[in-house]
Amino acid sequence: MTILITTPNGGVGRHLTEALRERGDVRYLVRSDAGAKALDGVRGEVFRGDVTDAADVRRAVVGVDRLYLAHPFADDQVAAETNLATAAVEAGVRRIVKLGARAFTGDGIVPDAVTGAHDLIAERLHSVSVPELTVLRPDRFLQNFLPAAASIGGGTLADPAGPGARGYVDVRDIAEVAVAELLAERPVGGDIEISGPQALTLPALAGRFAAALGRPVRYVDVPLDAAWRDALLAQGVTPGVADGLYGLYANYRSEGVAGLGDGVQRVLGRPPRSVDDFAADLLVPALSGT
Ligand SMILES: NC(=O)c1ccc[n+]([C@@H]2O[C@H](COP(=O)([O-])OP(=O)(O)OC[C@H]3O[C@@H](n4cnc5c(N)ncnc54)[C@H](OP(=O)(O)O)[C@@H]3O)[C@@H](O)[C@H]2O)c1
Repeated sequence: MTILITTPNGGVGRHLTEALRERGDVRYLVRSDAGAKALDGVRGEVFRGDVTDAADVRRAVVGVDRLYLAHPFADDQVAAETNLATAAVEAGVRRIVKLGARAFTGDGIVPDAVTGAHDLIAERLHSVSVPELTVLRPDRFLQNFLPAAASIGGGTLADPAGPGARGYVDVRDIAEVAVAELLAERPVGGDIEISGPQALTLPALAGRFAAALGRPVRYVDVPLDAAWRDALLAQGVTPGVADGLYGLYANYRSEGVAGLGDGVQRVLGRPPRSVDDFAADLLVPALSGT
């Protein structure tokens, strides 16, 4: 058996790599020099390639039985994931575990490009008849807040997702579900909704971070305005991605209370990690010494 892992250094993918690093039957598809270096010490094969390059894709899928399919939200996401998956199926892959996203529900929701990209890719996967297909549908990642750890430690949780409550999920749980689905003799398969154990508003999240840090943390609403968009563009985000993120955050702001997903319990037989687990394991250590 050969398992192909895309984004092996990605937010979710790095935890798959950690779980699989002692296995010899894994191929890690990595693009950058830094990415290849970060895989030093894994027992499997480090394969250099770009998922937007057709020749790289053809070589990457040779002999692959199972595929973890993930890609950042980007202008090329739909093409990258559908081309790789199609080549993999043509090469004989039997199982694909795709990282998708939770669908929005309720009044006031407008189709957005981030969720829409996942829907298009999933549709394509169904149309090429993958023998065993799992689509992971996680809610918003808790790890999104780690790059802002210093600001949170300084007392401010600033975020544009608005007043709703959602089941913020620890990406370590998503990765564990993905690994279980990749390795199982009989995967659960189908759509797997993944969230944390509780729907929380951003002020409530700030309160939980404050309790873990032992200092006050105040939530500040970031409006989805021109300044917000300009800041994204200044970071090198393309206009198309900025528009997509605008649509995504507008839906976060409209949704109210998001439903929870039972995927962690269903696949792993245990409850999902809580915000408190995330804060103690990752947020507090990120701030140690500050
Ligand atoms: N953030 C959230 O709250 C959230 C919630 C639900 C769903 N999602 C979904 O999660 C997905 C992102 O997952 P993630 O955060 O685990 O990934 P990620 O961290 O965004 O993935 C980054 C990795 O992708 C690799 N990569 C980018 N372009 C590539 C290319 N052309 N060829 C090969 N590798 C390439 C990069 O490799 P190099 O470093 O080598 O360039 C990098 O290591 C998105 O589809 C998003 O919609 C996110």
